[in-house]
Amino acid sequence: MNEKLSGRVVVVTGAAMGIGKATAIAAAKEGAIVAVCDINEREGQKTVEEIRKAGGKAEFYKLDVSDESQVRDVFERIERNLGDIYGLVNNAGIAGVSKPTHQITLDEWNKVMSVNVNGVFLCTKYAVPSMIRNKKGSIVNLSSIYGLVGAQDVPPYHASKGAVRLMTKTDALFYAKYNIRVNSVHPGFIDTPMVSGFAESTGNKEAIYEALKKLHPMGRLGRPEEVASVIVFLLSDDSSFMTGSEVVVDGGYTAQ
Ligand code: NAI
Repeated sequence: MNEKLSGRVVVVTGAAMGIGKATAIAAAKEGAIVAVCDINEREGQKTVEEIRKAGGKAEFYKLDVSDESQVRDVFERIERNLGDIYGLVNNAGIAGVSKPTHQITLDEWNKVMSVNVNGVFLCTKYAVPSMIRNKKGSIVNLSSIYGLVGAQDVPPYHASKGAVRLMTKTDALFYAKYNIRVNSVHPGFIDTPMVSGFAESTGNKEAIYEALKKLHPMGRLGRPEEVASVIVFLLSDDSSFMTGSEVVVDGGYTAQ
């Protein structure tokens, strides 16, 4: 079998649901040993069970990516249990409040930054030493179309995803000498619990989905698997000359 990630340890944060879950499953199918990390233990264990049932290798680690002591401890345990980390998918993220800037509290702002920005920083910080040691690694950061273009909603989310886009490029430049590649992925609206939760909270899910579909020239939302396949490509040697790139997966949203 020609598996693209055979025997390589890949950490996926926020892997209990949505894009992270699809990525963990897709990476395991390519032979990766996956550390499924999430604050949601019940759903995270389900991801692990699904991978194992399909013959793949995975372990669950309860982790809040915004907490440095947890990140330090979990990454140490992953290396002890599974081996040196080759791949990191900084996927855990939250949408946060959708209010105009002048109505947002500092706590609401900081909450989004702590997960979406500090989480990427901390997980990268603790994954990189073993990658440097091995002179090999691939980091994939989940930004968004909202890290490329504006819209009239979720100001802290936009700020956080813009930050992730440039954190990716800075790390790509510094770590290139160690053969560690760092790329960002920019999905359009993908049908995950994040988006369905938002749509349901408005009390008119159907209308919101119809409006969201119209924003994409392809006339639909994306599926988590359609982002996961791109992330696996970026993790694998198929993308061996790509670093500092921003890869858009948006059904044409930002082409307009
Ligand atoms: P989701 O809300 O469906 O799943 C996110 C997962 O992250 C959940 O399992 C949740 O428990 C976990 N999580 C949340 N906070 C965490 C923390 N502090 N530590 C560890 N895990 C935590 O989200 P979805 O839609 O799968 O999004 C994944 C990533 O993709 C996020 O970074 C998001 O911003 C980004 N994205 C999503 C898009 C979409 O339309 N769904 C579009 C563009 C980007």
